[in-house]
Amino acid sequence: MKALVYHGPGLRAWETTPDPTVLEPTDAIVRIDSSTICGTDLHILKGDVPEVKPGTVLGHEAVGTIVETGAAVSTLEEGDRVLVSCITSCGRCRFCREGHYGLCTGGGGWIFGHLIDGLQAEYARVPFADTSVHKVPEPLTDEQVLFLADILPTSYEVGVLNGKVGPGDTVAIVGAGPIGLAAVMTARLLTPGRIVVIDLDTARLAKAREFGADVTIDNGHEDAVAAVKGLTDGLGADVAIEAVGVPETFELCTDLIRPGGRVANVGVHGHPATLHLEKLWIQDVTITTGLVDTVTTPILMQLIEQGKLDPTLFATHRFALDDTMAAYDTFSAAAESNALKVVLATQTPVMGTPHRREVVGAGV
Ligand SMILES: NC(=O)c1ccc[n+]([C@@H]2O[C@H](COP(=O)([O-])OP(=O)(O)OC[C@H]3O[C@@H](n4cnc5c(N)ncnc54)[C@H](O)[C@@H]3O)[C@@H](O)[C@H]2O)c1
Ligand SMILES: [Zn+2]
Ligand SMILES: [Zn+2]
Repeated sequence: MKALVYHGPGLRAWETTPDPTVLEPTDAIVRIDSSTICGTDLHILKGDVPEVKPGTVLGHEAVGTIVETGAAVSTLEEGDRVLVSCITSCGRCRFCREGHYGLCTGGGGWIFGHLIDGLQAEYARVPFADTSVHKVPEPLTDEQVLFLADILPTSYEVGVLNGKVGPGDTVAIVGAGPIGLAAVMTARLLTPGRIVVIDLDTARLAKAREFGADVTIDNGHEDAVAAVKGLTDGLGADVAIEAVGVPETFELCTDLIRPGGRVANVGVHGHPATLHLEKLWIQDVTITTGLVDTVTTPILMQLIEQGKLDPTLFATHRFALDDTMAAYDTFSAAAESNALKVVLATQTPVMGTPHRREVVGAGV
């Protein structure tokens, strides 16, 4: 099969690699129909995630079709259309029992395109298939559900729910990339009073208004803390969601919140940030961090089916899976291309096409 293979910092190639096979009875093999690229893949390519070994297939977000199941897989069969999400779950360890799949100690958690081969490929091996994939309801398109593989549950769980966004709240979201915009989209489910988005990039701020931000602030030109205080009788935001991942924006979030407010950090940080306890200790603030668990994926999928959530707004560019290299170029030049998410899709496979396996029951 073909796959996007990481060869060390700065090096990637779309190349032929061995087809994945069932290694454990709980595995399934999925034919990838749609995939996408995450900011984390760019971090890996910069060499920021040294656990990723050269030779690893990248990608942790896909929609695909089951083509083979291990002997112990009991709830999936060939032809099932599934969302393969960034988090897998062994289903048995203490953390999986608690719904903290992101912390799985039984071999799951974030493993695709990290510790095992990922999903920017024609086929992938999915461990713990029964407890890790989500069947896609028939009427939904790949593009409607693809962003449930990472950004929507991430922003909803680690941003909105950890930040305890509630009706009437002023929510300040720092960073208007896919994660910040997914926080705008999912915060709206909880009827906040006002969503304020802060970013340095005017094109991203315009996107934030399209996604439903009430107020946008360019903090390169405007004092964001003064602006948010001006909107809230001098108090500050009820919730600040950090969606960038640099020390300044974490520190900005702690300045933006009111006494008793909440900072929900979603950004992945590569450097230490200063925690101003000398100012914060008396303010009853709550600060949370985390990796996504994807425990809300089923409910978000249901909201899409019910027409209450439309993640297709994130798809700014579309490529054939074979053009993954070009898709990386476009995605990594987001400042020029205005890319949010790039969709990599295969065409409906034709039976007997060389290098593709036959898929039973896939409607071909
Ligand atoms: N916790 C998790 O499970 C999880 C999962 C996925 C991604 N992430 C992280 O979330 C963060 C955001 O991801 P993304 O894909 O949206 O990233 P992105 O790079 O596309 O977007 C970041 C945005 O922040 C803005 N920005 C940069 N510096 C700023 C500053 N000083 N002030 C205001 N805005 C600033 C940029 O203009 C950009 O629009 C990243 O750190 C990513 O690694 C976390
Ligand atoms: Zn990701
Ligand atoms: Zn587990």
